[in-house]
Amino acid sequence: MEFDARDPSHEVDGVPFHTLSRIRTEQPICPSPKGGWYLSTRRHIDTALKEVETFVADLAPMAGLSGTEVVPAEELFLSEIPEPRHGRIRRLYNSNFAPHRLRNTEEFVTRTCHRLLDPMLDAGEGDLHAGYAMPIPSATLADLMGLPPEAGEKFMGWSFDGTLMQRPGTPGIKPTGPAILDYFRDALAGRRASAAAGEEQPHDVIVGLMNAEIDGVPLSDTEIVTQLQFMVMAGVHTTRALLVHLAHRLLRDRELFERVSADRDLVSPLVEESLRHDAPVQATTRRCTHDVALDGVEMHAGEWVEVGIGSANRDETVYDDPDAFRLDRDDPRDHLGFGGGPHICPGATLARIEASCAVNVLCDRVAEMSVVAGATYPPLPGGMSHLPIPAKLTAK
Ligand code: HEM
Repeated sequence: MEFDARDPSHEVDGVPFHTLSRIRTEQPICPSPKGGWYLSTRRHIDTALKEVETFVADLAPMAGLSGTEVVPAEELFLSEIPEPRHGRIRRLYNSNFAPHRLRNTEEFVTRTCHRLLDPMLDAGEGDLHAGYAMPIPSATLADLMGLPPEAGEKFMGWSFDGTLMQRPGTPGIKPTGPAILDYFRDALAGRRASAAAGEEQPHDVIVGLMNAEIDGVPLSDTEIVTQLQFMVMAGVHTTRALLVHLAHRLLRDRELFERVSADRDLVSPLVEESLRHDAPVQATTRRCTHDVALDGVEMHAGEWVEVGIGSANRDETVYDDPDAFRLDRDDPRDHLGFGGGPHICPGATLARIEASCAVNVLCDRVAEMSVVAGATYPPLPGGMSHLPIPAKLTAK
């Protein structure tokens, strides 16, 4: 059996879940038409995500590259940096997005959610995608970076214009790379000038990276702006997708909205079940560093391996009734929505804060939500699409 996860003929609900279920049972490691392999079960995916010496993270397919391009070390995005440096740079991400650094984030996100809902509630209707889910992650990341609100608008624009994966040297763009890099270069130069003038420095992500050292050596400006770009790339679309999925589900399932509104202890299981059932990142990629046999399947050095996170999250050997959306799972966080192993998402706490604030504010402010008659709604999980989620809204 050959499997192409992007072939629309396999799709049910925007994702080929029925085909994936068959693949998990009949041929859990199956060839992909692009020449590599597709991993579909939780067991195989846990192995691939943990064994980074054999299955190395490589973003080339996501960026439309062949994998043979030589990228200077300073311009590698976090996931592509070889160990042990990957682990050291990761510690900087972890400390920037650790719960104690996000103490004020809940308040910022809550305020942002209220600001976005105000005009929609006044009008009695609005688009829960463009008007609510979409601006929250970019505004939050801009705030954590200590940048003005316009930065959030810019991040949102760049996350849709196809330039976010580009780097200096990408064919067809200017030699200094995409506009987001220029923006971060200017922001960093401003911080350096203010530090040199002896001004007090804020505790934000940019200053955190500026003051960081690895083995006594500070990061170069190129390394800092590259990682800032990667934070936007990794954190904006993904969190937007989670928020879209949550808003969409609460809109379409009145009983669920009423239950969660009445019992806020259900917000956390709701967010986790969304990450499992409708994983915002349905698949990621790895490349074999050497020949290896996985469960008897021979894979060769250089071959791509597509890691089906969304499929692992529906694995029938792990979850009862895997296609059902349930808030009573024994261990709601037992899913691969944020990946696993050494590359597990360092932004998970931030994403969870944004998601729970977005749901709580909807529940606090909205008495009733209903679909707009005649409107078509994207299938779930469809968070990577740009489609509107129009809603009729009655304020409490
Ligand atoms: C709902 C929101 C999010 C989801 C579903 C998500 C999902 C993921 C997944 C599945 C991975 C692992 C990819 C792999 O192994 O190839 C990952 C890695 C990563 N995520 Fe997230 N993410 C989210 C939000 C964020 C946020 C808010 C940030 C930061 C601002 C972030 C930054 C990163 C980074 C830097 C990595 C790479 C880590 C490494 O390679 O060591 N993510 N994310």
